[in-house]
Amino acid sequence: MDNLTESQDVVMPAGEEITVLVVDDELSNLASLQKIFQKEGMRVLVAEGAKQALELARRHRVQVVLTDLMMPGTNGVELLRAIKELSPDSEVVLMTAYGTVETAVHAMREGAYDFVEKPLKRISIVKSVRKAAEKQSLVAENRSLRQELQLLTNREIVGQSPALRRVLDIATQAAPSSATVLLLGESGTGKELLARYTHSKSGRSGGPFIAVNCSAIPESILEAELFGHEKGSFTGAVTRRDGRFAKAKGGTLFLDEIGELSPAVQVKILRVLQEGEYEPVGGNTIKADVRIIAATNRDLSAEVEAGRFREDLYYRLNVIAVTAPPLRARREDVPLLVDHFLGIYCKKNHRARLEVPEEVMAKLCDYSWPGNVRELENVIERSAVLCRTATLRIEDLPDSIARATSTPPSTLEFALGTPLEEVEHRLIRETLRHTQGDKSLAAQLLGISTRTIYRKLGEE
Ligand SMILES: Nc1ncnc2c1ncn2[C@@H]1O[C@H](COP(=O)(O)OP(=O)(O)OP(=O)(O)O)[C@@H](O)[C@H]1O
Ligand SMILES: [Mg+2]
Repeated sequence: MDNLTESQDVVMPAGEEITVLVVDDELSNLASLQKIFQKEGMRVLVAEGAKQALELARRHRVQVVLTDLMMPGTNGVELLRAIKELSPDSEVVLMTAYGTVETAVHAMREGAYDFVEKPLKRISIVKSVRKAAEKQSLVAENRSLRQELQLLTNREIVGQSPALRRVLDIATQAAPSSATVLLLGESGTGKELLARYTHSKSGRSGGPFIAVNCSAIPESILEAELFGHEKGSFTGAVTRRDGRFAKAKGGTLFLDEIGELSPAVQVKILRVLQEGEYEPVGGNTIKADVRIIAATNRDLSAEVEAGRFREDLYYRLNVIAVTAPPLRARREDVPLLVDHFLGIYCKKNHRARLEVPEEVMAKLCDYSWPGNVRELENVIERSAVLCRTATLRIEDLPDSIARATSTPPSTLEFALGTPLEEVEHRLIRETLRHTQGDKSLAAQLLGISTRTIYRKLGEE
């Protein structure tokens, strides 16, 4: 193994930890290769044959498999196929003896990343394995970015509660018109999701959906960002640029956090809503071809009252208002959402779906979720990353939830216009939670008979 002796001049960049699986039936080879890659700072797994190699690949995340081509039993090409089937992202580098190069070329066609010829040279195997690892990480990153993008664009709205269904009904009805929609509701209740949903159900669904977070863009450039600018219209405007109104042409423009708009930009938006046209900074009037959906977690009518938001703009925006209900007002959606996010995040973290025992689910249902669905999503994502067991336990939850006492709320919230029957239902159910299921006490508190409780809940 002379040619495997170290040469001091190989300097390879140290990246994140790479796991390489080395497969060779020659034990002395295996030992020297193990040493070489360990010195390179890699994690090394070794196998004397294909069977052992596959077992290891099943149990560990392996970036690169370095395998001998000629082995008794399963040879390198067969192992390559099996590895690719088991973990398509892993890259395979083959070691070939003199005279077997043709087989190696054939193996490349089967998806091998590279081959190195024996006698082995330290420099070339290290280089080849590093390059294979680099490619592997690019492919893996690409895949996860694609998954993330899909998560962002293809999100379904989960929930069966009457409160959510009512909101979806209004959005569905409003979608086909080009009327402006104002989405209200606390942070994390799904306003952006509703905006995308409304767009997707509208006649403009073939066009773009462009979102602008009005509070994230500095006031000084917001106007140019929204309406675009001509070349030379201000210092730094070296070229002409389209704004978001132009980018959303034929589609929907989602103005998020609209409550944060400065008075100057409020006037400009009002003009688009009233006249259907706008001017890029330093440019001529353009006809606007967008449907506007606006959202805020502020109480806009209070902002109007306080003189911070233009009343005329408020009325223009408020043609169809939809209020996304807070999660605590639709606790029956919690289990469905938990299940939905477990599906997404366990898959993303390459693990089996976590089990959620009844008492843990009860804890999650009882919690008040001030950050609404976004908070719940974060809790599940965190659990999918951190939880070491197959079952989610109460101690795995963030302290704020684990320690929350399960006293039911002493007040209830209803959106104006909630059907009386639903108000009654929820009031009765929450009172029963308060009395821990004691129906006669609940009846007493509500000033009705126990029979009425049964009847109202449809349990007669
Ligand atoms: N009913 C739902 N089903 C599935 N996912 C949901 C639902 N509601 C909200 N989400 C998810 O919760 C997160 C927060 O939702 P979104 O960004 O739409 O909230 P928001 O009301 O716009 O919040 P903010 O006011 O903070 O901007 C997103 O990841 C979204 O996909
Ligand atoms: Mg939002």
